Amino acid sequence: MTKRLQTYDSPDITVTFDPNICRHTGVCLRTLPPVFDIRRRKWIDTLAAPAQDIAAAVRKCPSGALQYRWHSAEPDRSALPAIRPAGVADAAALADFGERTFRAAFEADNRREDVDAYVGATYTAVQFAADLADPARCTLIAEADGAPAAYAQLRAGAAPAEVTGAAPIELLRFYVDPAWQGRGLAQSLMDATIGAARERGAGTLWLGVWERNPRGIAFYVKSGFRDVGSKPFLLGTDWQTDRVMVRAL
Ligand SMILES: CC(C)(COP(=O)(O)OP(=O)(O)OC[C@H]1O[C@@H](n2cnc3c(N)ncnc32)[C@H](O)[C@@H]1OP(=O)(O)O)[C@@H](O)C(=O)NCCC(=O)NCCS
Ligand code: SF4
Repeated sequence: MTKRLQTYDSPDITVTFDPNICRHTGVCLRTLPPVFDIRRRKWIDTLAAPAQDIAAAVRKCPSGALQYRWHSAEPDRSALPAIRPAGVADAAALADFGERTFRAAFEADNRREDVDAYVGATYTAVQFAADLADPARCTLIAEADGAPAAYAQLRAGAAPAEVTGAAPIELLRFYVDPAWQGRGLAQSLMDATIGAARERGAGTLWLGVWERNPRGIAFYVKSGFRDVGSKPFLLGTDWQTDRVMVRAL
């Protein structure tokens, strides 16, 4: 008897699976375990990885049982700024960029003196040079015409109790220049960040994001993160609440 075609949707991509032609090679399971897991009733989870990663995994299916289609045109990543690991030589540029993007994101919704206190302690060239030299951290920078367009920083260390996945690593910073937001650079940087975390042997990526940052939260949900709890965050003198989010790698 012919089995029905299975359909799995996400905001960006639809994946279909035709059980009649699957050759049970297990390629999909080995390529992207968070997405393809036959122990689950809904065995394809299209929110468990960026759509680009899912498309790449589906293309490896040798039988053609897995197929995908984008809801709009596939993002053209060739026009995006190149992403590379950052080093100590980037400290001054990243401190300036870090301050500018932090203020752009949060100044309007916070007291000026709290933002100034936080920025003054965090976004200095000396502090960034120390962070960039720290072996527990890994920083990626995207550059357009020689200037930063986005950056991300991973930090190995203790994770909150809510983060229960294997080998967790923190996504401490993730900022895209307002001029580059909504253009696919954030997705590209997330893919590169996930790659860097996997290279370091991490199995779980976790982060804290301000509860009043809807765009950040929406982006992380779109990137396969889920909310597992909250933690306090001190901005100057203001105790705030961050949502804690995780995704498997
Ligand atoms: C968070 C950030 C990296 C996301 O990158 P981006 O390029 O803006 O991401 P997207 O355009 O894909 O937006 C993500 C989602 O947010 C939502 N969104 C878009 N604009 C929004 C807005 N003005 N307000 C609320 N939500 C919005 C949408 O759901 C969108 O997904 P969709 O376009 O598929 O519907 C970027 O906005 C940024 O750098 N923000 C400032 C720094 C920051 O908040 N970093 C996270 C700190 S933890
Ligand atoms: S990769 Fe394709 S053929 Fe192999 S198990 Fe997955 S769906 Fe089936």
